[in-house]
Amino acid sequence: MKKINIAIDGPSGVGKSTISDRIAEKLNMRHLDTGAMYRCVAYYVKKNHVDYENKQALQEALDQIHIRFDGDRVLLNGEDVSQAIRMNEVSMMASITSALPEVRQKLVSLQQEAVKDKGFIVDGRDICSVVLPDAEVKLYMDATPEARAGRRYKEYIKKGIEADYETIFQDIVARDYQDTHRAISPLKKADDAILVDTSDLTIDEVVETVLDIIDKEI
Ligand code: DC
Repeated sequence: MKKINIAIDGPSGVGKSTISDRIAEKLNMRHLDTGAMYRCVAYYVKKNHVDYENKQALQEALDQIHIRFDGDRVLLNGEDVSQAIRMNEVSMMASITSALPEVRQKLVSLQQEAVKDKGFIVDGRDICSVVLPDAEVKLYMDATPEARAGRRYKEYIKKGIEADYETIFQDIVARDYQDTHRAISPLKKADDAILVDTSDLTIDEVVETVLDIIDKEI
């Protein structure tokens, strides 16, 4: 296992998770999907009707949330939420709750603690700038909203989840806006992150490009 951390940021649906999984497998590293953690918080808030605008109610909810990764599965307080957190309404809620400072504070410190011994590919929105500013390799993956919506649509259909392209496209545009315009840690390419535009690349081509960059960087 490589004793380094690799930070990958980028907008939703750009393929960060898939690419991170593949790179982790090739380099014998582990993948931390921080988006899944924000989705867990959103799922919990929705399911338990948490009044997230009330600071005390939010903090009490955050104290109850325990997230664990078991291979491909995401466990929230022991419940397998791997599929449930991918639903559109959870995505929209994640975009709202991930803008709350209390939520970011809790998740950023959990993430920093989880990867402190290195050997992780960490993907998200603020990894290069906030979570791991000292990561050995920093990447920013980007693609057009059309390319991203098309990929997400295919992914849902493949997994047997009902989907509508236009709805997914509109959600991606709306979430891009929310993610790039929030006050705390808005999605933004860090100055020292290397840009990888995946719009016209296959997954294999992105994996190759990223592996080349990692090779050159370390
Ligand atoms: O990558 P994703 O679509 O699974 O992320 C879900 C939401 O969580 C998205 O709206 C952005 C937010 N997020 C964040 O604010 N910071 C991260 N490090 C990861 C995700």
